[in-house]
Amino acid sequence: MDEKARLAVVADKLLIGRYHRHVFLCIGEDCCTKEEGQAAWEALKKELKDRGLSLSVGPSACYRTKVQCLRVCGSGPILVVYPEGTYYFGMTADKIPEFVEKHLIDGQPIEERVFARNPLPLV
Ligand code: FES
Repeated sequence: MDEKARLAVVADKLLIGRYHRHVFLCIGEDCCTKEEGQAAWEALKKELKDRGLSLSVGPSACYRTKVQCLRVCGSGPILVVYPEGTYYFGMTADKIPEFVEKHLIDGQPIEERVFARNPLPLV
């Protein structure tokens, strides 16, 4: 199997191509401490898994990625969710369950934590 075919198998197992949403969580050191970032990341993984939203399909299913910088740097962890392009600040571990419940499941952003929006147009 060539590399392209191998990667396509991996992507298929991860359900890439079937997600409606993708969450990026910045745990970079200009956003938060290493401990705060890691705790938020673990909380996001756990919450998505516990609610059946990780490695699943449907409108609330969500792919997740941790990153080191989203270029806004501060008051983190910073989180952005696409395709809405909703940017959140201060997304420490204790805020993650509310985010999953309200934004991902109910489709209602937590406005007091939203500081920017960049919805992606459908092509
Ligand atoms: S370190 Fe998080 S946005 Fe730059």
